[in-house]
Amino acid sequence: MIKVAFAGVNPADWKIRAGHLDVAPFGLELPLTVGLDAAGTVVATGEKVTKVKKGDRVVSGTNLFSNAKPGSYAQYLVVNEQRVAIVPDHISLESAATIPTAGITAWQALFASDKGGLSKGQGTKILINGASGGVGSFAVQLAKWAGAEVAATCSSANLEYVKSLGADLLIDYKTQNIRDELIKWSSNGIDLIVDVISADSLEDPVGLLRKGGKLVSVATLTDDGDVETSIAEAKERGVTKVLAFMNDLNFGEEIQQLIDIVKVGNLKLPPTEAYDLDNVVQAHEKLETGRVRGKLVLRVK
Ligand SMILES: NC(=O)c1ccc[n+]([C@@H]2O[C@H](COP(=O)([O-])OP(=O)(O)OC[C@H]3O[C@@H](n4cnc5c(N)ncnc54)[C@H](OP(=O)(O)O)[C@@H]3O)[C@@H](O)[C@H]2O)c1
Repeated sequence: MIKVAFAGVNPADWKIRAGHLDVAPFGLELPLTVGLDAAGTVVATGEKVTKVKKGDRVVSGTNLFSNAKPGSYAQYLVVNEQRVAIVPDHISLESAATIPTAGITAWQALFASDKGGLSKGQGTKILINGASGGVGSFAVQLAKWAGAEVAATCSSANLEYVKSLGADLLIDYKTQNIRDELIKWSSNGIDLIVDVISADSLEDPVGLLRKGGKLVSVATLTDDGDVETSIAEAKERGVTKVLAFMNDLNFGEEIQQLIDIVKVGNLKLPPTEAYDLDNVVQAHEKLETGRVRGKLVLRVK
């Protein structure tokens, strides 16, 4: 059992709360306590638990397609030890709460064999569409860590921030033409697009890719377009399109892997803005604008 100090706030939380997601297909029933990510301190363990002990600082999470239900907007959370990673002393629990959903979604979108399939050191050219939010902040840095060349879209307000994440080519999606900038950067097309915005945020994304390239669209569950048709059309044009859903099968291990990359200095956790749990309404209102840089978290007392 974890005494929650900070709960991560993710777009899925407000989409559930606002009734945009039919929760039944995920095996969830209303009413429910929202919240996928939590960081805090272990206050009790079951008899068979070996990985953590009382007093350990930990981070944990779940997702919608999971045998563990949401519920991290709470003072206490009971989780399986396989979903838990230890937070080292130099990482605050506030920062750790940013990792599970955003970090692992980015990790899997880039590296999972059924998604981006990126290997380290291939010199791949990647576009991260939506680089300044939760998922994008991890994706840019992890792609750089893997040795890729990274183009990243953001608005002018976030150019400096996205540059600080290590992006090689910054494209201001409000004032620049994304296609023109990418063609100047890589005339034969790029290898991989990770799109965390929506089906229609890029004009003809398949046309930006080289033959054999991949388009990984992180599923928004509200704005994914006609998925079957777009996957079939991409295939006809020699490109693989994947609608990506984070899975939490190896959550604890994958979160630990990200923490290890943080430890060696190759990943900075996103900047946070913390709200008291009592002010969750304001946090959701802010996230719903779609303008958050980094991550919002809730401080649980
Ligand atoms: N399927 C899954 O398993 C899964 C998992 C995690 C997340 N998701 C989904 O992935 C999406 C992204 O999640 P997130 O946590 O990264 O969201 P987020 O943190 O709320 O993203 C906000 C960021 O998006 C940027 N943005 C908005 N419109 C943009 C555009 N047209 N082009 C480029 N950047 C734009 C904003 O920057 P500006 O202010 O500069 O515009 C802002 O910094 C959400 O729809 C979420 O539900 C799905």
